[in-house]
Amino acid sequence: MKSSPWWKEATIYQIYPRSFFDSNGDGEGDLQGITSKLQYVQELGVDAIWLSPFYTSPNKDGGYDVADPRDVDPRFGNLEDAKQLIEVAHSLDLKVLVDVVPNHFSDQHIWFQQALKAGRGSPERARFHFHDPKEDGTPPNNWISLFGGPSWTQVEDGQYYLHLFDSSQPDLNWENPDVVSDYEITLRFWLDLGVDGFRIDVAHGLVKENLLTNHPDPQGISDALRLDVSMDPEIRYALLPTVPYFDRQGVHEIYRQWRKIFDSYKDREIMAVAEAWVHPPVNATRYVRSDELHQVFNFDLLDAPFKSDFLFEVVNRSIELMDSVGALPTWALSNHDSPRVASRIGEVQARALALFVLALPGSAYVFAGQELGLPDGVIPDSSRQDPIYFRTNGVQKGRDGARVPLPWSGDNAPFGFTTGNPWLPLTDAWKELTVEKQTADPKSTLNLYRTALKLRADHLNSQGPITWLESPEHGARGSNLLAVRRGSVSIYMNLSDSAVEVEITGRLLIVSAGTVDGRDGKMTIPPVSTIWVHH
Ligand code: GLC
Ligand code: CA
Repeated sequence: MKSSPWWKEATIYQIYPRSFFDSNGDGEGDLQGITSKLQYVQELGVDAIWLSPFYTSPNKDGGYDVADPRDVDPRFGNLEDAKQLIEVAHSLDLKVLVDVVPNHFSDQHIWFQQALKAGRGSPERARFHFHDPKEDGTPPNNWISLFGGPSWTQVEDGQYYLHLFDSSQPDLNWENPDVVSDYEITLRFWLDLGVDGFRIDVAHGLVKENLLTNHPDPQGISDALRLDVSMDPEIRYALLPTVPYFDRQGVHEIYRQWRKIFDSYKDREIMAVAEAWVHPPVNATRYVRSDELHQVFNFDLLDAPFKSDFLFEVVNRSIELMDSVGALPTWALSNHDSPRVASRIGEVQARALALFVLALPGSAYVFAGQELGLPDGVIPDSSRQDPIYFRTNGVQKGRDGARVPLPWSGDNAPFGFTTGNPWLPLTDAWKELTVEKQTADPKSTLNLYRTALKLRADHLNSQGPITWLESPEHGARGSNLLAVRRGSVSIYMNLSDSAVEVEITGRLLIVSAGTVDGRDGKMTIPPVSTIWVHH
C-alpha cells in the first residue's frame, strides 16, 4: 500500500547520474542512461528517485558546483532528456526529486563572472559574500572550508569571497533579493517541467552569522562536520553547536517562502527534503514544521556502529524527535558523501541493518548500488576526483569510493556500465555483484531488497508506530537482539555472531541471511541477521 501523501513512508532511491548508466560510451552516466534503466528501478520496488545534480557545471565538486541551475550539462544530455526521464518515471509510477544547491553557485555561473568584473561595492558582488581583507591583508575571518584550506579566496582587486566548500563554489548571499527571486524561478522551472520535489543541498547553510569574526577552533569545527574524519564523539558534540555558518534561524524564513511555492502546485503532492546537518539533533525538527519542508535527512545511521545499544538509541531518538512535530523520520545507510555501508560495517551486517530499517516508520533512502551490497571502490590516487583529496593535499582521500559506477552485467569491469572508459575504475572483483548475476541468484542482496520492499509495501507501510519487544532496555539477551512489533509484523535483528532462539509463532516473511529454524513456537535467528515474522 502506498502511503498518503506518497512521500510519507516512501522508499526513495538516490541516483548519482554520473555513476548509474552510460548511454553513449563516453565513460560517464547520463540522463538517457538513467531513463533506460528506470524499469530496473521500478522492479526494485521503490516509490521515487532522487537525482543528484545534472545541471551545467564545470564539475569540480561532482556537479554540486552549479553554473546554470536551469539547464542540463551536456555530459548528461539536455533538457529534452530531462523531460523524457520525468515522463518515463511517471509512467512507471515513480516520483522524481531533483537536487537543488542553494548555498552556492559555481564560479562559472554568470553572476559570479559579472561580480568579478563589476568590482568592489557593486550590486553584482552583493549577491555573494565579498569582503575586504583585514588590515594585515589576511582573509576577513579564519573559517576553514569543509573541503580543507581557508574558506576565503582572494580576487584580483584584493577582496575575498566566502566559500564554505571548494574555492570554485562561492557562497550566495541570501540577504540579497536577487538571490531569493532567482531561486524561486529555479524551483518553478523544475516544478513546471514535472518534478515532484527537491532534495535541498546544504539546506542549513544559507544564512551566516558573525561573518567577520574569527572562530576559536576553525579546524575543529570543520573536522567535526565531516563524517569521514574520525573524532572523539565528545569533542565533536562540543564543537558542533558553535558552528557560526550553519543552522541559523534565518534559514527557516526561506523555507516558509518555498513551502508557499510548493503548495501552489495543486495538481501534485510536492515534497522537499532538507540536507541539514544540525546539532543538537532536536534542531532538525524545525525544518519540518508544518509550514516548512516535508522531510529532513537523518544522518545518524551513516556512521552508526553495528551495536544494539547505539542503534536502539538512534531509532528511538529519531522517531521521538520527529513525532514531536508530527513528522516521521527518514533513514539512510549510505549516500554519495559517505563510505558505503557494506564496507563500513560489513556485508552481512549491512543486509541485516537494511532489513531492520526498512521495517521502521518513515521514509527510507537507498543509495544506488546499496541494493547490490556494493562496497567502496578501490581507487588509485591518480584517478581521484573529489576536491577534498586535492584541497587537503591527499591527506583525506575524499568520497570517490562511494561513487564508483554500478556493475550491470558480464564478467569483467566495467560490467556493462559503459562501452568506453569509466570515469572511476570498477574492479573485476565485483564479478558476482552485477545486477545480472544477482537477479539470477535468489539469495542475492538485490533479491533481498526486492522482496523486502514488496513486503514493506504489503505489510508495513502506514502501520503506525513500533513497540519494542527486545532491546538493551527491554531485556534483550546479551544485548545483541533488537526486536520490534509493527502492525502485524515482528522484526528481530540478531547482531551477535551466534544464532539466537526466540519464542515466536507466525509466518516467516523474510530473513536477511542464513536459514531460520522454526518449530514448536520457536525460531532460531541466524547470526547477524534480521527476520520479519507475520502474525
Ligand atoms: C552536500 C553534497 C555534497 C557536496 C556539498 C557541497 O553536502 O551532498 O556532495 O559536496 O553539499 O555542495
Ligand atoms: Ca555518457
